[in-house]
Amino acid sequence: MTESWVNSAERIGADLHLELSGPGGRRAALTRALREAVRGGRLAPGTRLPPYRSLAADLGVARNTVADAYAELVAEGWLTARQGSGTRVADRAEPLRHAVRTPVKAPSRARGPRHDLRQGAPDASAFPRAAWSACYRRALQGAPSEAFGPGDPAGRRELREALTEYLARARGVRTEPDRIVVCSGFAHALRLLFGQGAGGVLRGPLGVEAYGLEFHRGLLATAGVRTVPLPLDEHGARVDVLGRERAVLLTPAHQFPTGGPLHPERRAAVIDWARARGAVVLEDDYDGEFRYDRKPVGALQGLDPERVIYVGSVSKSLSPALRLGWMVLPQRYVGPVLAAKGERESWASVLDQLALAEFLVSGSYDRHVRRMRQRYRHRRDRLVAALAADAPQVEVTGIAAGLHAVLRLPPGTERSAVKAAAWQGVALDGLAAFRHPQAAASAGDGLVVGYAAAAEHAYGAALEALCGVLPPG
Ligand SMILES: Cc1ncc(COP(=O)(O)O)c(C=O)c1O
Repeated sequence: MTESWVNSAERIGADLHLELSGPGGRRAALTRALREAVRGGRLAPGTRLPPYRSLAADLGVARNTVADAYAELVAEGWLTARQGSGTRVADRAEPLRHAVRTPVKAPSRARGPRHDLRQGAPDASAFPRAAWSACYRRALQGAPSEAFGPGDPAGRRELREALTEYLARARGVRTEPDRIVVCSGFAHALRLLFGQGAGGVLRGPLGVEAYGLEFHRGLLATAGVRTVPLPLDEHGARVDVLGRERAVLLTPAHQFPTGGPLHPERRAAVIDWARARGAVVLEDDYDGEFRYDRKPVGALQGLDPERVIYVGSVSKSLSPALRLGWMVLPQRYVGPVLAAKGERESWASVLDQLALAEFLVSGSYDRHVRRMRQRYRHRRDRLVAALAADAPQVEVTGIAAGLHAVLRLPPGTERSAVKAAAWQGVALDGLAAFRHPQAAASAGDGLVVGYAAAAEHAYGAALEALCGVLPPG
């Protein structure tokens, strides 16, 4: 292990997260967690700690909180601070092997994995707090009084107008504000469309990609919708096998989770199928902004706005905690979707909607996406480089876009690789976790590696641990 804090601090980052909820405020919790990490030997003498700014960003606390905690531990003799060499664990801070008191109470929260490489979440430490709060303040101050009354179930007009412009420019979506219904993300859209089973806006059977999110399949099953898996090959979903389904759910820009775009001929073919059968395509554009190697693959919706329901959200681009998304609907579905939503907005906060409108119109969204695209590209490059150096037998695919990649494994090795990873504290999923129960294993063996969510200072150690558990070729 090198001496840099990038490696050594990773383990404390996770532990500090667990301890920060303890009594006495964040500074006290951080001080306690660091002291325990040194006393317990997890931070060896000489280890350099992360700079205030990095640790503060990763933990979501103020820089002063970190500075105060370090200062207190320097005063106690656990740490040393020297100009030019940063803050380090003091040489004489040897772990007390026998004298450590057994804690009276077990920690209240479960210990998470040491290295989190699960796909799904963006980098939570990169949420643009300053820009978002400036937009929120402006939106709050500029909102007319009626904004504080019961909300319009279609969503705030300001947001629908901003989305119309943004989606046309960035994703090639053809729409107008009256065809947009604001929702709380893709899962909410599924509930609205299929919520009342046979009486819902859409009905099954629904074609789905053979690999996808189990959470979404579960939602559909609960709504009584039968899903029919479409096999995947190197051009994406085999839409030629669609027959009597009434709708099909696709991730055309970036198949989830295998990672390729739907081939242009298949894009055209699925629209032809929908026209011929009076069916509809449900487009899940979950991470369309994050393409690295070429120009963004535009939305399928642009091919036929009357046959495609387009759904997007801020869950990958900003944060899944905001619970904000949008549906772009063919005209005939607007009324039924609004009826399913009810007479009043009961999902998405009007103030958050106004803040997002301001965020879009002011250019902050574009700036944030550009910044994150750079950061994620860099993370992806580090993953590829680490594999090339330490596990060259492993092929990595699905890297042209998104926040995750797929590592291809020899047949029959996926399960043991996932287990070996878990044993070493590396959390990730194998491709099998995404396979439709009635689908053949057409994607082969592989590991789905999310490279966005790990804290910046923890990422190097996570890659090192990952390479260490991959099977030989
Ligand atoms: C395949 C897929 N679709 C959609 C979403 C977005 O879901 P939601 O908007 O409900 O947060 C995600 C996760 O972010 C996803 O992985």
